[in-house]
Amino acid sequence: MTDIIFRRASAADYPDILVLHRKNLFSNLSDQSRQNGFVSIDMDDSQLAAINEDLAVIVAVQEKLVVGYVCGTTQEYSVQFPLLKHMMSLYQETLFQGQPLSNYHSFLYGPVCIATAYRGTGVLQGLFQALLAQIATRFNAGVAFVAKDNPRSLRAHTQKLGMELLTDFEFNGKSYVMLGFTVPPLPHS
Ligand SMILES: CC(C)(COP(=O)(O)OP(=O)(O)OC[C@H]1O[C@@H](n2cnc3c(N)ncnc32)[C@H](O)[C@@H]1OP(=O)(O)O)[C@@H](O)C(=O)NCCC(=O)NCCS
Repeated sequence: MTDIIFRRASAADYPDILVLHRKNLFSNLSDQSRQNGFVSIDMDDSQLAAINEDLAVIVAVQEKLVVGYVCGTTQEYSVQFPLLKHMMSLYQETLFQGQPLSNYHSFLYGPVCIATAYRGTGVLQGLFQALLAQIATRFNAGVAFVAKDNPRSLRAHTQKLGMELLTDFEFNGKSYVMLGFTVPPLPHS
C-alpha cells in the first residue's frame, strides 16, 4: 500500500469528499452500517468551499483517492447552524480543564469521515494532526460534538485522539456529547 498524504483540500477534491460524506449520511445507511458511524447533516460544494475558506478542510489521499476528510470552523462561521449555535451557548457554563470553554480561543472540529476500508488504520490521527498544524497559531482549544448513538465515533475521539468528555446536551430531541481538546502551540515539535 502506498503512503497516505494528509493535506489541505483544494476545490478539485470537493466532489470526492461529497461522495464519501453522502455514503455516510445517516439517512443513506442501514441500521447495521450506522453501528460504524454516520454523519447527520448533508453538505454541498459551496458549503465545503466556505468551510475551507473559513478555517480548513483536510483530506487524506492515497493514489489520488480521497479516503478521509475532516473540517474545522470558527465560532463566527458556525453560529449559522442551529445545533452549533446551541452548543456554543453552553460554553460559559461548560468547564474544560478548570476553566469555562468561553475563556478559550476555540474552534469547532468536524464533520469527519473515513472510508470504510481505511477505518482503524490511523487515518483519523493523521487528519487530526494535519488539522492541528493548520490552525495551531490561532486557537488554543477545539470543541467537537458526537451523537450519543454513534459509539464508534465517541470511542475513536476519546480513546484514539484523547478528547475529553465535557458535557451532554440535547438538540431537536437527540442526545449529544460535547468533547474538548487542547491545541498544542507547536504540534510537530
Ligand atoms: C468515526 C470515525 C471517523 C472513526 O475513525 P476510525 O478509523 O473508524 O476509528 P478507529 O477504528 O481507530 O477507532 C474506533 C474504535 O471504536 C471501536 N468500535 C467500533 N464499533 C464500535 C461500536 N459499535 N461501539 C463502540 N465501539 C466501537 C473500534 O473497535 C475502535 O476501538 P479499538 O481500536 O480500541 O478497538 C470513522 O469510523 C467514520 O468515518 N465513521 C463514519 C462517519 C462518522 O461517524 N463520523 C463522525 C461523526 S461525529
